[in-house]
Amino acid sequence: MDRKEWLRKDLRHNWHPYTQMSALAADPPLQIDRAEGLFLFDADGNRYYDAISSWWCVVHGHGHPRIREAVARQMERLDHVLFAGVTHEPAVRLAARLAAIAPEGLSRVFFSDNGSTAVEVALKMSLQCWRNLGREERTGFVCLDRGYHGDTTGCMSVSGVEAFLRAFRPILFPARRVPAPYCYRCPEGKTYPECAASCVDALDAALREGGETIAAVILEPLLLGAGGMIVYPPEYLARAAALARRHGVHLILDEVATGFGRTGTMFACEQAGVSPDFLCLSKGLTSGTVPLAATLTTAEVYNTFLGDPDGGKTFYHGHTFTANPVGCAAALASLDLFEEEEVVDRVARLAPRLAEGARALAELPMVGDVRGIGMVAALELVRDKGTKEPLPGTAPVLREIRTEGLRRGLFLRPLGNVVYLFLPQAVTREALDDILDRFGGVLRSALKS
Ligand SMILES: Cc1ncc(COP(=O)(O)O)c(C=O)c1O
Repeated sequence: MDRKEWLRKDLRHNWHPYTQMSALAADPPLQIDRAEGLFLFDADGNRYYDAISSWWCVVHGHGHPRIREAVARQMERLDHVLFAGVTHEPAVRLAARLAAIAPEGLSRVFFSDNGSTAVEVALKMSLQCWRNLGREERTGFVCLDRGYHGDTTGCMSVSGVEAFLRAFRPILFPARRVPAPYCYRCPEGKTYPECAASCVDALDAALREGGETIAAVILEPLLLGAGGMIVYPPEYLARAAALARRHGVHLILDEVATGFGRTGTMFACEQAGVSPDFLCLSKGLTSGTVPLAATLTTAEVYNTFLGDPDGGKTFYHGHTFTANPVGCAAALASLDLFEEEEVVDRVARLAPRLAEGARALAELPMVGDVRGIGMVAALELVRDKGTKEPLPGTAPVLREIRTEGLRRGLFLRPLGNVVYLFLPQAVTREALDDILDRFGGVLRSALKS
């Protein structure tokens, strides 16, 4: 199909996510034809670094031969089968492997197919666990302002990115939101580390207020992704986990974006020495190749679901593609690569270089804050560095950054007023230097005045 025709058909039939479709004719989508390693290639053969890991999921680079082979082999043997009353080797091996690498105590694995379902499962399991224990009053959730856990109704109910929720408020269930540990815009006007993460006191207050009605606290550990790539100190997470324990509620950690080495440890919560009651995984689980997700929990939670089939303790939840064998095979191959290529160590080794490269842009006009963790680096753009007035997400300069990025071989997608790199863990030192060079060029050019 010729390129124009392709685009015309796209506009006629496709409805793209998080996209104002009326603007697409003037600002058409990039026509990606293929991908390899760190690069996306458009229909004209132009090459772009996938600088946001295709929405934060690519780990080992696109089309890694080991994952491709594993997927092809699995396709030939068993493409799909339901997972109720049936099991298969890829799911058995993957569940055991995840339990072995997960933070302590997370021995039970429930598979689904995307980040939102991984979170929905955790919310529902927490709720039903309390019910199984005869604690029906524990139905509430505490979450963060600017937190993001997905787009299904339950996930939205515990998220805090206002723009994504506005239209759906009438159908969301109420949850207690506490201010995010957002150091650049500290709700208490304090500075870390002097503050000792005292903003966590708001979580304590919410837990006190909710008392026996709270089922769980849900958090993205160390990095609030969609909320603006807000990085917060492990101390906050450690203290939040201790509060959840003290108040006797579950802790749900959503590592959909942070899992699998992105932050410099296999799971971000390791940096705070925290082990949750529920761990939600997706995105990097298959290195962004095949949709798959997992919700891990403890034997303690799991055991509350055991009983008479008519006793109301069965977990009535499942998806058609639960534990899809091809997804499991991709995940197993990805985990092999983690071991063979020492991916997490490499991220930890390269993270300071990424941070230094981003910090070098701090003096540019409009750059209010520079922050990052692992393979993530973000610049928050402001109208005025003194007042920190945010640049509106619709400011023309943000579109210019995207366009200039493409011109310089970088695929970027600013999040509101935050411009960021979210790089595949497979990035090499050489590629990282090149990406930083280009990123600096984009920003210097777009923010020059
Ligand atoms: C932390 C977090 N949780 C959940 C999700 C939802 O995942 P999905 O888009 O696969 O439903 C995302 C997606 O960006 C995420 O960043």
